[in-house]
Amino acid sequence: MTSDRILVVGGYGAVGATVVSTLDGWFPGRVVVAGRDEGRARRLGGVRADAADPEGFRRTLEGLGDVVAVVLCVEPPDTRVARVCLERGVHLVDIGATRRLLDGVADLHDLAAGAGATAVLSVGVAPGLTNLLARRAHEAVGGAERIDLTVLLGAGERHGADAVRWTVEGLAGPPAGAPLRTTLPGHGRRTAHPFPFSDQHTLPRTLGVGQVTTRLCLDSKPLTSALFGLRAAARRPAVRRALTAAFGRVHLGGDGFAVRADARRGDLHAAWAVTGRVQSRVTALVAAYVTRELLTGSAPAGVHHIEQLPALAGLPEALGAHGLTVWDRHAAVLGT
Ligand SMILES: NC(=O)c1ccc[n+]([C@@H]2O[C@H](COP(=O)([O-])OP(=O)(O)OC[C@H]3O[C@@H](n4cnc5c(N)ncnc54)[C@H](OP(=O)(O)O)[C@@H]3O)[C@@H](O)[C@H]2O)c1
Repeated sequence: MTSDRILVVGGYGAVGATVVSTLDGWFPGRVVVAGRDEGRARRLGGVRADAADPEGFRRTLEGLGDVVAVVLCVEPPDTRVARVCLERGVHLVDIGATRRLLDGVADLHDLAAGAGATAVLSVGVAPGLTNLLARRAHEAVGGAERIDLTVLLGAGERHGADAVRWTVEGLAGPPAGAPLRTTLPGHGRRTAHPFPFSDQHTLPRTLGVGQVTTRLCLDSKPLTSALFGLRAAARRPAVRRALTAAFGRVHLGGDGFAVRADARRGDLHAAWAVTGRVQSRVTALVAAYVTRELLTGSAPAGVHHIEQLPALAGLPEALGAHGLTVWDRHAAVLGT
């Protein structure tokens, strides 16, 4: 009989499947797969769970009885499932990337602290590794006045349906700021376009930095131009639906990704970057490492973004074992 189980919601999705296999290697027999497709979940030894149905989710947790941590590998429509977990004292790892939801879960800090539960937000590549690199660069200049984050995604990767939908929705938001030319290791000099990654709202609060900008480009230059050329049109739902369908089918380019953080204070400038392959796999690895830290480390109760937990500061290097490369400000390739 197993106990202290870990429920992975979205556990057969692009991110969730790797979260499940990684955690299962560390905690054999303790991982339970969940999703809305009961047959699929059961074939994997799991249960049906719907992150959009908090009462049903509460019953699922009660039925399992011994869940100590929930890994949310899908974005629920609101924060009610997070509340259900935290008020029961169940730890939460949330790979969500939408500001409204992250802010809503952060508001549950006192509830979580009172119940002895820890939630970690900004888990993944962006947000996630972006936050960790931003913190390093911030500290390297002795407290940044400004941080610029750039993310390059591989257009050839088979991104999960939920992640594609999220990215296309992000296109429709008002562009904040101007495109930026920057160097990404292994990808050369690129133009990245303003994109509403949640860090631009999180980091001013967690690091106390006045200005944080976030930008995106794809490994394919023509696709980057085409995507951001469609920005105005993407405000129309029909165009977003067509784009989501196209990105689900067309895989032009590779599966490499890169993340870069630049911090500036006066004349001081620090830059850090990471490069790797298959961002959904690395997002999953970040989520698995964070979950392991919650279960075996001493993270304080309450709701925290990843960069607020010192025990996770070395995660980029730890992921070197999975092919991630960390580039620091001394690497000539980062330039200015
Ligand atoms: N932080 C980061 O860097 C980062 C990176 C990549 C992705 N993400 C986020 O991760 C999430 C998942 O991405 P993905 O690429 O893995 O997508 P995906 O392949 O579409 O997987 C989503 C999974 O969630 C399940 N699901 C969907 N709605 C659900 C619900 N209401 N309740 C329970 N399960 C539900 C799906 O199965 P059923 O439809 O059968 O339920 C599927 O298994 C997205 O929200 C994305 O924005 C974050």
